[in-house]
Amino acid sequence: MERKMWAIWRFAFFRLILLFYIVYRVSGNAEGDALNALKTNLADPNNVLQSWDPTLVNPCTWFHVTCNSENSVTRVDLGNANLLGQLVPQLGQLSNLQYLELYRNNISGRIPDELGNLTNLVSLDLYLNNLSGPIPVTLGKLQRLRILRLNNNTLSETIPMSLTTIGTLQVLDLSTNRLTGDIPVNGSFSLFTPISFNNNLLNKLPASAPPPLTPSTPTPSGKKRICWIVADNSNFLMETCPEIKKTSLFDLRPICSEADLKRLDVLFSRF
Ligand SMILES: *[C@@H]1O[C@H](CO)[C@@H](O)[C@H](O)[C@H]1NC(C)=O
Ligand SMILES: *[C@@H]1O[C@H](CO)[C@@H](O)[C@H](O)[C@H]1NC(C)=O
Ligand SMILES: *[C@@H]1O[C@H](CO)[C@@H](O)[C@H](O)[C@H]1NC(C)=O
Ligand SMILES: *[C@@H]1O[C@H](CO)[C@@H](O)[C@H](O)[C@H]1NC(C)=O
Ligand SMILES: *[C@@H]1O[C@H](CO)[C@@H](O)[C@H](O)[C@H]1NC(C)=O
Repeated sequence: MERKMWAIWRFAFFRLILLFYIVYRVSGNAEGDALNALKTNLADPNNVLQSWDPTLVNPCTWFHVTCNSENSVTRVDLGNANLLGQLVPQLGQLSNLQYLELYRNNISGRIPDELGNLTNLVSLDLYLNNLSGPIPVTLGKLQRLRILRLNNNTLSETIPMSLTTIGTLQVLDLSTNRLTGDIPVNGSFSLFTPISFNNNLLNKLPASAPPPLTPSTPTPSGKKRICWIVADNSNFLMETCPEIKKTSLFDLRPICSEADLKRLDVLFSRF
């Protein structure tokens, strides 16, 4: 009799433990589950995702994943990883993600609309993949985004106007895709030259004077100078003239205001 009671009690106890474990997994590791959904959707011939063990409490010890002090994912660094497959909508659940670096892989399919939910994102680098379909309008919700590089894919349809509302945007590369329609010129897009849009099926920009190829001399007052910003596609080098030395001539655009120079200072301190 006593033995039987003990057996029942033991059974109940283990059921309870199992229940706690399941509840904990579900509530405590949503971000790990989201990343694991990505892993499941990708072929990984180089085993760069080998450390992505979904049974761990959180994904913070996984290679290529960085977390903040609250164990929430802030970076996913998987550029040049030879990954093949599609992105997953679950990525939109990484609410503290700041850097999503998936450039130079063989990722195909669409960019999920859900990436627009990553409102803390600072850098979205999906260049040099095989992504197709439109650039999601929802990316306009990324109001902290500074770097958006989607170049060298096969993205189609028009450039969403919503992107012009991202006031923080400093680097934009949509070149070498199959985008159509007009190039937005207002809002944050007033900064960008045709180089950001090269090699698409876009309508020509309305005739405005192209930036001259030699820096102009500072105005006598020195208050409002014409300076230059040189953004290298891969290395993101920024330069002003005449004080600072030159680098590669990938993207050249005029910087006219003190506000722009201030933005440059911020950039310099970061990169
Ligand atoms: C993409 O896949 C092709 C073959 O499918 C391969 O030749 C190429 O090296 C891959 N590129 C990258 C960047 O992984
Ligand atoms: C994320 O984005 C999708 C599509 O843009 C939306 O339908 C969904 O409600 C969003 N989810 C959350 C949790 O905000
Ligand atoms: C991706 O595109 C590249 C070049 O456009 C091509 O060589 C490669 O085979 C494609 N890979 C896949 C998996 O479609
Ligand atoms: C991107 O595509 C352009 C146009 O085909 C090509 O010239 C360039 O080399 C590509 N970029 C890289 C890094 O392969
Ligand atoms: C740019 O113009 C389009 C309409 O042409 C508008 O929808 C969009 O909100 C404008 N962007 C900004 C930042 O004003």
